[in-house]
Amino acid sequence: MKHPKILIADDESAITTGLAAILEDAGYGVDVVADGQNALDKLVAERYGVVLADLKMPRLDGLGLLRELQQRDIPTECIIITGQATVDSAVQAMQQGAYDYIEKPLNAEKLNRLKALIPKALDKYQVQQKNRELSSKLEGLTHYGELTGQSESMRSVYQVIEAVAPSTASVLILGESGTGKELVARALHSKSDRAKGPFFALNCAALPKEILENELFGHEKGAFTGSTNEKPGAFEMSSGGTIFLDEMAEMPTDIQVKLLRALETRQIRRLGGKKEINVDIRIVAATNKNLQKAIADGELREDLYYRLAVVEIDLPPLRDRADDIQLLANEFLGRFAQQNGKSITGFEDQAWEWIISYHWPGNVRELKNALERAVIMSRGTTISASDLIPRHLRAGGEMPAALTIPVGATAAEARQQLVLRTFASTSGDIGRTAKVLGLSEPEVRNELTALIGGASVAPASRMSIEAGEPPAPPAARAARRSEPASPPARAASKKSTAKKGR
Ligand SMILES: Nc1ncnc2c1ncn2[C@@H]1O[C@H](COP(=O)(O)OP(=O)(O)OP(=O)(O)O)[C@@H](O)[C@H]1O
Ligand SMILES: [Mg+2]
Repeated sequence: MKHPKILIADDESAITTGLAAILEDAGYGVDVVADGQNALDKLVAERYGVVLADLKMPRLDGLGLLRELQQRDIPTECIIITGQATVDSAVQAMQQGAYDYIEKPLNAEKLNRLKALIPKALDKYQVQQKNRELSSKLEGLTHYGELTGQSESMRSVYQVIEAVAPSTASVLILGESGTGKELVARALHSKSDRAKGPFFALNCAALPKEILENELFGHEKGAFTGSTNEKPGAFEMSSGGTIFLDEMAEMPTDIQVKLLRALETRQIRRLGGKKEINVDIRIVAATNKNLQKAIADGELREDLYYRLAVVEIDLPPLRDRADDIQLLANEFLGRFAQQNGKSITGFEDQAWEWIISYHWPGNVRELKNALERAVIMSRGTTISASDLIPRHLRAGGEMPAALTIPVGATAAEARQQLVLRTFASTSGDIGRTAKVLGLSEPEVRNELTALIGGASVAPASRMSIEAGEPPAPPAARAARRSEPASPPARAASKKSTAKKGR
């Protein structure tokens, strides 16, 4: 990759000429100016990775230049060049954000130090540039690829996908069932240079060992009884694209050995074959298992884990993403209403309350299925709690018996969680919730309305939220955002017992 340019700002031409020649020899693009004001003009007009600035210059000195860079939010890294008499000011410059300083005279030793400093300063500049680009690009995003989500945690997932998609690094996606691991894998593929190549998904848990091996590596003619034709495997067929190994922790250990070898050498051998075949693949793997345990139990090879988890993406469970629950619920409502030709415009209060208080063990898949069912069941223009709450839950089953409240939560936050979960466990019965908790009904209602954003929603009123339009009541989001960081998802939540709705 081409280096960003370097600007030298010094009024001593003996220094600038020598330095420019040395840096150009080292392959850098260099511009030279003789005072601070000129330097600033250049830095405003053009992007430089590093400026080497003399501390004492006409018109604008090194410290002044540094201040201007910061005020104008110019990301160029600044290395100060200083005479011995001004070392104190150079130290001050570092405190104000200069990358480093070099003392004159620039003898061979100093020049060597400078030559070592420059690539590091350029690296810092480039990493910061990349991060700036990404966060401004992803700011305010509510969708990414096929993923819907606007929570902080989903936006950081988008940022990681965006950063690693162009590389060939293997990615391991972790998360409970139904959190969107496959959608993340697809986004990694579609945002990469391999997007035009194939995306090949294999579920390692669904296939018996022999078939999985055959699917992955293919076979030569006559490799086993009945193999009358040769067959290329997933590695060959998805060369130039992405292989998605779903439920990767279920892979039999002898296939893990072969996979490890393929990852290391980027070569495979078909079953019954002698020839090494080069493959150009990117591997994305996913699991909802506790991998530390799988490694400890000898089910997953640790060396394979490290190969696959060059980058790890941890998808948070839906119950920890209050912002996304509402966005997704409205989106699914809009989608299924349209598919079923129904004009449903929103949710009744009780339905909303249940949606945001339920713990969603099956995550987005469960929410999606619940909404599809609710839309089909609904006979009015709004979704009611009884359209939504599955019958087995109306009886009050399948609720977590305990609630995890992170240390650091306030008493008010703990109370809110307790009200929410109790409300969900009574299938949305405010009277029973109040009784169980020893609170009054208005107190329970206040806690719930604070969460759905209506400041004082009267019991019988409706929330008029148009289908498909993100409701995102600001108060609800603010209320959730001020919650302390949730405890680690996997550690805190019980293993999902939800049935897959596929
Ligand atoms: N963020 C999201 N936005 C929109 N739809 C989503 C999102 N996450 C999941 N879904 C939907 O939920 C369902 C489950 O998603 P997906 O198959 O990616 O989950 P998973 O984590 O791979 O689950 P499992 O571990 O059970 O394989 C799919 O229908 C998917 O479209
Ligand atoms: Mg999956």
